[in-house]
Amino acid sequence: MNRRLRARVLAVAGYLPARTVTNDELAERVDTSDAWIRERTGIRERRIAAPGELTSDLAAEAGRRALERAGRHPSDVDLVLVATSTPDNTFPATATAVQRKLGIGQGAAFDLQAVCAGFVYALATADSLIRSGLARCALVIGAETFSRILDWRDRSTCVLFGDGAGALLLAAEEQTGTILDRGVLAARLLADGRHYEELYVDGGPSSTGTVGHLRMNGREVFRHAVGALAGSAREVLEAVGLSPVDLDLFVPHQANLRIIDAVAKRLGLDERQVMVTVDRHANTSAASIPLALDQAVADGRLEPGMLVLLSAIGGGFAWGSVLLRW
Ligand code: UT7
Repeated sequence: MNRRLRARVLAVAGYLPARTVTNDELAERVDTSDAWIRERTGIRERRIAAPGELTSDLAAEAGRRALERAGRHPSDVDLVLVATSTPDNTFPATATAVQRKLGIGQGAAFDLQAVCAGFVYALATADSLIRSGLARCALVIGAETFSRILDWRDRSTCVLFGDGAGALLLAAEEQTGTILDRGVLAARLLADGRHYEELYVDGGPSSTGTVGHLRMNGREVFRHAVGALAGSAREVLEAVGLSPVDLDLFVPHQANLRIIDAVAKRLGLDERQVMVTVDRHANTSAASIPLALDQAVADGRLEPGMLVLLSAIGGGFAWGSVLLRW
């Protein structure tokens, strides 16, 4: 038999800041309404980090919970990979702040920046490092404090995002080399920099020396998102000879309920196969998929052995899909 090293998921956990901000509360600050936000996005509320609560605080708490659930110790971890576009500081990597907060002093730690596709990129990267033997136990975290880069006077963007973090603990495991294996089975990562200006932050260390604010051409992003998500989802399934009907759960990036519905329709998925948390979390960028996985486990919708597809798109544009067996 063809033995093969796989990156298997040991546990998932999420962390959301305590403060909930409703659409009505936002309507007191900008010219918007609960009805508009719900109808156009499906969002009801989002969490916002407390003053002084950093991306690494959210990330470390999600990571701590994942380790606890897996019954593992920080000394087991030899890779901390944080997908974020809202790092604590320009450098060092937020992943090293997470290491410090969890008491991890060994292995590698770095951040990965692929905006809303960050978690899918990070998971595929951790999978590659595990399969190549460079890591054996990886804490892969998506963590964001987008509230810090929003223009709170711009109603077209400030209503869409929220803060949070989610973590997956993965470990190397020899398996049979078939699609019945548990862990990451296939991945597809894509980007097209011609769309750089459709979704970006108008500041940065090298350009303005400031942090900047998020700017987005929402309609253009929407238009590309549906085709890109459905396309990469199909490609990753076809790569292992499967199709959407085989999926137990589809966990797309949570940006907009209309995008999720349109992608699900293109893939011919049933509502029961699709995970939705955008109503409660809004768009938490790189944190949205691991937070949705955590919710799926809590809801009893995700159990060991299930076939799960993750798909995300964000600024760049960067997008991709990861297929795994839970
Ligand atoms: O994570 C990946 C990145 N993000 C996304 O995937 C987001 C992708 N895009 C979207 O989700 C949608 O395009 C939005 C939710 C951003 C906007 O929805 P839309 O249906 O594309 O609306 P629109 O941009 O075409 O705007 C429709 C109207 C405009 O007014 P006019 O020009 O028709 O008079 C906007 O000014 O809605 C107005 N509008 C608002 N009204 C009330 C925009 N934002 C708001 C608001 N409240 N918050």
